Amino acid sequence: MKLLEAIYGRRAVRDYTDQKVSRSMLHELIDAAIHAPTALDEQPWVFAVLEGKSLLRDYSDRAKAHFLATFNPGGDPHSLRRDMLRDPAFNLFYNAGTVVVIYAKPGWKFAATDCCLAAENFMLAAHAKGLGTCPIGFAQPWLDLSEIKTSINISEDNTAVMPMTVGYPVKAPDPVPRKMPEIVFSE
Ligand SMILES: Cc1cc2nc3c(=O)[nH]c(=O)nc-3n(C[C@H](O)[C@H](O)[C@H](O)COP(=O)(O)O)c2cc1C
Repeated sequence: MKLLEAIYGRRAVRDYTDQKVSRSMLHELIDAAIHAPTALDEQPWVFAVLEGKSLLRDYSDRAKAHFLATFNPGGDPHSLRRDMLRDPAFNLFYNAGTVVVIYAKPGWKFAATDCCLAAENFMLAAHAKGLGTCPIGFAQPWLDLSEIKTSINISEDNTAVMPMTVGYPVKAPDPVPRKMPEIVFSE
């Protein structure tokens, strides 16, 4: 697949088949991820691979409860999603069998930026290989809890940056229209 085709064709996928994503495929996608640029070539990331629909269903329930218990609605647009998060049937991970979480290593100002660049590479590579992904911001606060990091073999001083579902899409989602970007030329 051509790069621009991947950029314009990638969508947030929210419905997955039961086909399992192989370990070799995950290695390929993570290899694409780590070819992202990093500030001072620090490569400050750790990839946590969480697998199994029932485990992820349990994680979804716990992450939803944590989000609802700790989230301060304020003016955040996510306050509009409270009803969805309260729905026991709603699976944060959309029934995907695999979630990859990119964690940033500590002590480096640009670590989270580097991880986001890696995440986009991961998602574009997945799309090019016929897989779908969706970033899951709702799960990030829970995945950053010390006890959860410890339970998934991630060092407590790492920071959860980007959880992403990955799997085979049931169908290609419709494109989401983009707002006109603000572009300011200096002269
Ligand atoms: C940081 C971040 C967090 C996101 N969190 C969620 C989420 O928790 N649940 C979800 O369904 N989509 C989530 N998304 C996906 C966006 O809703 C989606 O990218 C956006 O609607 C545009 O659609 P597209 O990716 O298909 O172009 C997130 C995207 C980003 C970048």
